Amino acid sequence: MALVHMMSVIVTQRLQVLSIGYRIAQGSFEVRGAEDSKLGRRTFLAQERLRRFFAFCYTPCMSITVYNNPDALPQLIGEFRPVDEWQAHINDIFYGLRGGRLREFSQTFAAADYRLAHALAADYYARALAREKTPRLIIHEWGCGNGNLAACFLTHLKTIDKDNRVYPRVRYVLVDAQEATLHAAMAHPDLAQHKDRIESLCAQIQDLATVEDGSVDRIICNELWNDLPTKLLLRKDGDVEEEFLRPNLSEARHAEIADWSGFVQAFDAKDIKALDGFPAFLEDIIWEKEYRKSDWKMIPYRKTIADFLKKIDEHVLVPVNLGAYASIKEAKRLLAPDAVGFSAFDAGTADLDVLNDPEKPCYGQFGGQYSFMVNFALVEMVAKHLGMKVSKIEPQKEYVGQCLATNVMSLMDLLATHPRSHVLRGWEQDKLIVETIGALNKTYESPYHRAIEFPLSTDIPEDGRETLQRLLASLKQNGIPDTIAYLTEEELTSALQDLEAIGYDRDIIESALQAPAQNVDYYHHFLKP
Ligand SMILES: C[S@@+](CC[C@H](N)C(=O)[O-])C[C@H]1O[C@@H](n2cnc3c(N)ncnc32)[C@H](O)[C@@H]1O
Repeated sequence: MALVHMMSVIVTQRLQVLSIGYRIAQGSFEVRGAEDSKLGRRTFLAQERLRRFFAFCYTPCMSITVYNNPDALPQLIGEFRPVDEWQAHINDIFYGLRGGRLREFSQTFAAADYRLAHALAADYYARALAREKTPRLIIHEWGCGNGNLAACFLTHLKTIDKDNRVYPRVRYVLVDAQEATLHAAMAHPDLAQHKDRIESLCAQIQDLATVEDGSVDRIICNELWNDLPTKLLLRKDGDVEEEFLRPNLSEARHAEIADWSGFVQAFDAKDIKALDGFPAFLEDIIWEKEYRKSDWKMIPYRKTIADFLKKIDEHVLVPVNLGAYASIKEAKRLLAPDAVGFSAFDAGTADLDVLNDPEKPCYGQFGGQYSFMVNFALVEMVAKHLGMKVSKIEPQKEYVGQCLATNVMSLMDLLATHPRSHVLRGWEQDKLIVETIGALNKTYESPYHRAIEFPLSTDIPEDGRETLQRLLASLKQNGIPDTIAYLTEEELTSALQDLEAIGYDRDIIESALQAPAQNVDYYHHFLKP
């Protein structure tokens, strides 16, 4: 009962945060809830570095960059365009500027941890054994990021494939739209031993024209759909409206840019080389928004989308993940008729009640980049329309647990169970995180070596800083790789005494392992032609 209460307190806090924030509506700037005294404590779990997902939980649909100084006028840097167009524009700039250094800007479930990759490898091995007659097994990873998922997938596949029945037939293609990202991924040290199994392809996954129809056995992608073009639509008085955005640059950043027209031109043209010469600006963009009638005839799958919108109340915005649909269309073309299938992992929901909630989070901004919640219910309808015969949506942690024959939870979920997690502030939160990792590391052993990157808060007292820095420096290389790593039931059981010593409650941890997915959570969408 205590746990149920605890979990509901956490969930309630998350939901409360959804009603806080700033919003810009119909071109005007409006601030609400800015002085909420509880905001500080609620932001414990919202720290950006903890994980991208939390920004979904904590960023209301209507939230946008803060504009709270009426004397500081922002400067326009573009016109009103549909949100999916600006998303694609900004993400091209974001990845163009930061492609080779992704881990500095975002954490994903695959960028440092190995559990998702091992689950996929175990699953693939079991399915590929049944395909002994297929001489070449082509696996695509779309939006491969830093190559960690590829490295851990292939390493685990090779390890479990003791009789060489699958691994020698595999050709693993890392696909990404950014040359710099691919370059860095191919240079991942743990991919060196798989050099003869891998190749790279620089392309937009919506259009992989150089890849032959029906030639691929398995497609995987992690946290890619969130990044792909997404519209925000709503029904109003018999019409369909969509969100339009207009970008401005903050007054402070504008003042630092001497060649203003050169900057605006480079921004408009997505000229990465030129933009690299200007001060960092992505996080200083202030977005205005308004709603306009949608150009319905330009929207693909409009019959399916219209059917879906009938299930949603008037005036409620819902994400329409056009990029995800385009990826499924391409997957359908590329997968062999008897292929293992397409697996996408992302944050979102398939729950119509949640989708119908006007306060649900629709997108978050990370380092200036847009990431949208995936509307899995509509993705599934479009996938069926595209002829996908199998469509299964399950919580990601259930998939990982099932494939690895255990229960798992993320380090973040563990932190949320600490009885004091919601009252700790600033550096006290850092202390809890570092101490928790220290406690787990006493027994946790990763097969990989990864240096954990954990920047400490600035408000930390000098003596506390030294202690935490010492603790951080002493963390072992094969310990917990980041703050979103999955932990197995066995690892938690081994560490229970050490966790209790820093205030964790055994019963809460045990029950949290069995806790169902949250309203908006990470899901696995499996599709098969
Ligand atoms: C959020 S990162 C995820 C990286 C990696 N999958 C992970 O989990 O760490 C998204 C990746 O998708 C790539 N990407 C974004 N849009 C793409 C597109 N249309 N086609 C191919 N790659 C794309 C980005 O360059 C980036 O590497």
